[in-house]
Amino acid sequence: MAPLIQNYIAKTTFGLEEILAQELLELGATDIKIQNRAVAFSGDKELLYKVNYCSRTALRVFLPLVSAPILNEEELYKLVQTIAWEDYLEVDGTLAVDSTVHSETFNHSQYVALKTKDAIVDRFREKFDRRPSVDVSTPDLRIHVHINKEQCSISLDSSGEPLFKRGYRVATNEAPLNEVLAAGLIYLSNWDRNCNFIDGMCGSGTILIEAAMFALNIPPQVKRTHFGFLTWNDFDVSLWKKVKQEALNNQRPFNFQILGSDLISANVRLAQENIANAGLEDIIKVRQNDFLTSVPPEGGGILVMNPPYGERMSDQVFVEELYKKIGDTLKQSYAGFEAWMISSNRDALKKVGLKPSRKIVVFNGALECRFQNFSLYAGTKRTSFKPEV
Ligand SMILES: C[S@@+](CC[C@H](N)C(=O)[O-])C[C@H]1O[C@@H](n2cnc3c(N)ncnc32)[C@H](O)[C@@H]1O
Repeated sequence: MAPLIQNYIAKTTFGLEEILAQELLELGATDIKIQNRAVAFSGDKELLYKVNYCSRTALRVFLPLVSAPILNEEELYKLVQTIAWEDYLEVDGTLAVDSTVHSETFNHSQYVALKTKDAIVDRFREKFDRRPSVDVSTPDLRIHVHINKEQCSISLDSSGEPLFKRGYRVATNEAPLNEVLAAGLIYLSNWDRNCNFIDGMCGSGTILIEAAMFALNIPPQVKRTHFGFLTWNDFDVSLWKKVKQEALNNQRPFNFQILGSDLISANVRLAQENIANAGLEDIIKVRQNDFLTSVPPEGGGILVMNPPYGERMSDQVFVEELYKKIGDTLKQSYAGFEAWMISSNRDALKKVGLKPSRKIVVFNGALECRFQNFSLYAGTKRTSFKPEV
């Protein structure tokens, strides 16, 4: 029998939609449609497992069950009750309901989640005189309700915990980058994995770890043990083993250096712990160092950095001065490199004093950021060091 083809929606963060669409295409998805912070696609169950295991830029993957207009909570209740929940969940199983709401009628997401849960358990009670219980941390079935104006979509969440939780992070500093965003920045930088990769302000090492996993084609979820679909009624253990094995067989060699450093030695230790937990200590080298006096390796390469943003007003002068010195360091020492910086501080970015060849808008959490590229040509092309006006 031919495998069942279903429609899915992969969520991501703003600015990574096209990157995610490309990943989905490469994984074998069809009917790909870019949406706001999401990409719709079609495929079979094998693809659903693959996307969860191998996509670096998906945050969650939903299986939509129903989408219809609703005007009030009674209509929400009725819509939820039309779904044959007993096909997806045992009566003695557990469930959790999450919701996102952008609507004037429904303005309380927790209330929407509660109403949905009530409608589901009432359906079970009417049929079996018993009902599943709620488990918000590791439910057998995680349900997602999305209301946009009056359109309500109800989906199953195949991922469970969001996919940025890769399972390798043991330690964080104050402002770690989300793993999905870090992987997305690496893709946006167009790094072809044929040169050295550097993060001169590596903090807890997220960019370096995502870069190394990409360089070696290691699946991003290699360390993760839980996915929502593992407790679905139709879970196919041999298909899941096949998906994982094929992904692990796809690893590739990498013959360049991945180097990280940070000014603060405690952050370097955090990065080392995370790198060891990801099993990448032979691939990534980190050390304590001031980027402003750094000497890059021979042969050029790519530099992707997430410097401090200076969110407090009182830090502005310091951060602008830091960015100016970063620009000076790039000009003096990093000829031959492609440098990329992400920051929400647009005034400070102007102090870098180099003309960006690309500026991409992304969000780091709630912060709107620019991810900017500075091409630091070696030799005769030094005229690219034009100050930004
Ligand atoms: C926003 S954090 C980076 C977070 C990192 N991307 C992560 O995921 O954990 C900025 C880092 O820049 C480091 N830093 C600030 N000034 C530096 C300098 N002159 N040289 C090297 N690192 C510096 C800080 O210690 C901090 O760890």
